Amino acid sequence: MDYNELMEKAIEVSKNAYIPYSKFAVGACVLSENDKIYTGCNFENSSYGLTICAERNAIGSMIADGERKIKAIAIYSPNMKNCTPCGACRQVIREFQVDAGADVITKFGDELKTYKINELLPECFIL
Ligand code: THU
Repeated sequence: MDYNELMEKAIEVSKNAYIPYSKFAVGACVLSENDKIYTGCNFENSSYGLTICAERNAIGSMIADGERKIKAIAIYSPNMKNCTPCGACRQVIREFQVDAGADVITKFGDELKTYKINELLPECFIL
């Protein structure tokens, strides 16, 4: 799967974000170990702390489908040039990365940037 296609799906799903409070839309698209695709957007709540990020929404769909490993995740926000995952989502991506390490793909203007999750979350806690 081409990373441009993953990003296109992240862009598309960001349009479904439920963001009445922050007005900050995010979309994410996961490529799993078996080359399946899962998308998610953020959705907020009037009890603000219940907000679910786009990344964890997409990863939840992957888990519910029986997949367990992430090869890559594309993340997009129309509100930020290079939207990287928050700390909580970095930890969750790390939990499910393939042995070779998950790629995190962001959009930097017209270009895609690719990070390794281990680079975004060095010295992390993992059991
Ligand atoms: N958000 C995400 O969906 N993913 C991130 O990695 C960063 C933050 C959402 C949560 C909230 O709805 C909005 O962006 C502003 O924080």
